[in-house]
Amino acid sequence: MQLRLLAVWPLVSALIALLCLAPGAASESARASFSQPLAGLSAEQEAHFLEGAAIFRQRWFAHGEGDPEFAGLGPTYIAPACAACHVRAGRGRPPTRQGEALRSLVIRLGIPGRGAHGAPRPHPAYGDQLRSRAIAGVPSEGEVFVEYDAEPGQFGDGTAYQLRRPVYVFFRLAFLQLGDAAMHSPRVAPALPGVGLLEAIAESDILARADAEDADGDGISGRPNHVWDPLSGTHRLGRFGWKANQAGLLQQAAGAAFDDMGLTSALHPGPTCPPPQRACREAAAAAANGAAELSAERLAALTAYLRHLAAPGRLSQGAISRPIAICCCMIWARDLPTVGPISRPTGANGAPRRCGAWVRSRQ
Ligand code: HEC
Repeated sequence: MQLRLLAVWPLVSALIALLCLAPGAASESARASFSQPLAGLSAEQEAHFLEGAAIFRQRWFAHGEGDPEFAGLGPTYIAPACAACHVRAGRGRPPTRQGEALRSLVIRLGIPGRGAHGAPRPHPAYGDQLRSRAIAGVPSEGEVFVEYDAEPGQFGDGTAYQLRRPVYVFFRLAFLQLGDAAMHSPRVAPALPGVGLLEAIAESDILARADAEDADGDGISGRPNHVWDPLSGTHRLGRFGWKANQAGLLQQAAGAAFDDMGLTSALHPGPTCPPPQRACREAAAAAANGAAELSAERLAALTAYLRHLAAPGRLSQGAISRPIAICCCMIWARDLPTVGPISRPTGANGAPRRCGAWVRSRQ
């Protein structure tokens, strides 16, 4: 949903900047403030949330190494745990220094045209993203670092400024060069609190607010993205990811487990290896025992965790009065009722609270 990206990003970045300046930002409670459960969960829901939180933090291992309970990492992957990129369910960061390795940034790859179900066409040798790590005996796909080009400019009053344009440099590519037709798109890991509320907004309410040409002149425009949903086997409105390429949180979690960590599941029986990657395919075949590496139960727990992640409350020393993720709700979904599977807080008469009411109740 570009709509969401365009609408939300300026405020989110301003609030993140404020958070960094806030006294107490480094306190323990502030550190954990992105990974708290929504208030008002039942004991059963809270237990499911905690189970999901543990799987979110869990480091996974290659088959035959480490804890066999959590085997299935790779053959190629980017990070061994969800929390490696979404640290404490917060956002990742792009590299700040020239030549610094990418940690929580994913490089999506593709070539022109459309693939199955109208999705972007994956690169023939590297698939839909570059996996920079691999298990023993399998080559990793390659690495990327970033360089910054300076781009000078001038404000209206003549004051000079300089912007930095990132240039992504691919090296140690294990298969072919990417080729001239290849396209790449860097994506930093977003913060996760509040995603359950975004999943719970009715599709019709989102579509009603799509304003592709900014006809209402409020400076916010966006168009909905319709994506293939492997769960329902239909096209649905995309909601998650910077370009709204996943329809729901379960699909997003299963997609992340597969694409970023190499874990197969019922939605992605795998393996993750594009055609030229023979060692990858052989390793996957040797490890396969017919069972999904991320079981349906664990995927459900991960989804419950994401759905019930509360937006952070006020910091103890009080420099900020509004929670960060909720600002998304406020900007373009203020006063929308939420529908769907989230167990959201209810008002005094038991009726679901509207998004705006929930925001006010947290200030
Ligand atoms: C290698 C880093 C990395 C790992 C590991 C990772 N993610 Fe992500 N995550 C990202 C990036 C980057 C995005 C944005 C993707 C996009 O725009 O397509 C994202 C997006 C998401 C979103 C959507 C957030 C939003 O606001 O739209 C959710 C939910 C999510 N990840 C959950 C998970 C879960 C659950 C796991 C573990 C199974 C996981 N992620 C593992 C990097 C990672």
